[in-house]
Amino acid sequence: MTGKYGRSALWEQYNRTHVTRETTHELAGFKSGAPNFKMALWDPKPNGVRYLKTLIYNLAEQLSPDAKAALRRIRHREVGDPISVRVDGEPVCLDYLQAVLELEFVTGHVELTGARVVEIGAGYGRTCHAFLSNHDLSAYYIVDLDNSLTLAEAYLGAVLTEEQFAKVGFVRVDDVEDFFATARFDLCVNIDSFAEMDAATVLAYLALVDRSCRYCYIKNPVGKYLDKTLDSHSQGAELVELALRTGLARDVLDIHDSDAVAEHGTKFVATYRPGPWWTDVAAGRALPWSYYWQVLYRRARP
Ligand SMILES: C[S@@+](CC[C@H](N)C(=O)[O-])C[C@H]1O[C@@H](n2cnc3c(N)ncnc32)[C@H](O)[C@@H]1O
Repeated sequence: MTGKYGRSALWEQYNRTHVTRETTHELAGFKSGAPNFKMALWDPKPNGVRYLKTLIYNLAEQLSPDAKAALRRIRHREVGDPISVRVDGEPVCLDYLQAVLELEFVTGHVELTGARVVEIGAGYGRTCHAFLSNHDLSAYYIVDLDNSLTLAEAYLGAVLTEEQFAKVGFVRVDDVEDFFATARFDLCVNIDSFAEMDAATVLAYLALVDRSCRYCYIKNPVGKYLDKTLDSHSQGAELVELALRTGLARDVLDIHDSDAVAEHGTKFVATYRPGPWWTDVAAGRALPWSYYWQVLYRRARP
């Protein structure tokens, strides 16, 4: 320490590295640069996990009592070592936090007891895990690409009870038309995966949904974005190009402009409607991402 009220060794260091004599004369850009990263804000680049945990923590505290109870009923969420926080004694990660929000949205309108559910593009199976842990479904089918199916089968085998796992069917995309030819479902679920498929593939899936489902829940981005400050395009320009071409909602927008997102949200609901007989029962932004929209459609005719 220098003097009775002087700098600690820590601030001596900061005065050499961040809040230097030179930088304190410069106002342009100082709030999103080094000086402010020692004043009022953590540098977002090395602090990604800190911001993620803060997001989870705040969302978890705001969950409704029903959603908190639903989360507690989903056992073995620790499998796979998620990045988690602990709120009210319960470990919480972002995947299952979203799962209970999705479940809450759907169950506000659809009776799931005894329901037959089909999910297209299930990832490792978090949604299936959340649904089966909270509702006595009669069956849950997952349609996906082979590698994801393998992961989902291993994961769900590890986290579900034998009785729950026996209700899960795994369907390869090569078998999807045969599978849908005779099957009927109460609910189809698509979360964050139509947006990553070729448009023709999405339309083909929606045609199957139109023929065979009563309800359809879709949660996906309302469009595309090019803001390089978000991810430094860290996976390369080619990947950005590929991502811009997929899905049905391909307008490029500022995904952190609420007016632009709301405008594209309305368009999203019209774009993903499985067919003319489908009405939207509920729709709106899907937390936590500014640019994700969720909609529940119901087939108005049998
Ligand atoms: C970003 S992940 C989302 C996973 C999951 N819905 C979630 O939110 O955790 C996209 C999923 O869509 C699947 N997918 C991609 N193309 C597909 C296709 N043509 N048919 C079925 N599933 C597909 C991927 O294998 C993956 O499981």
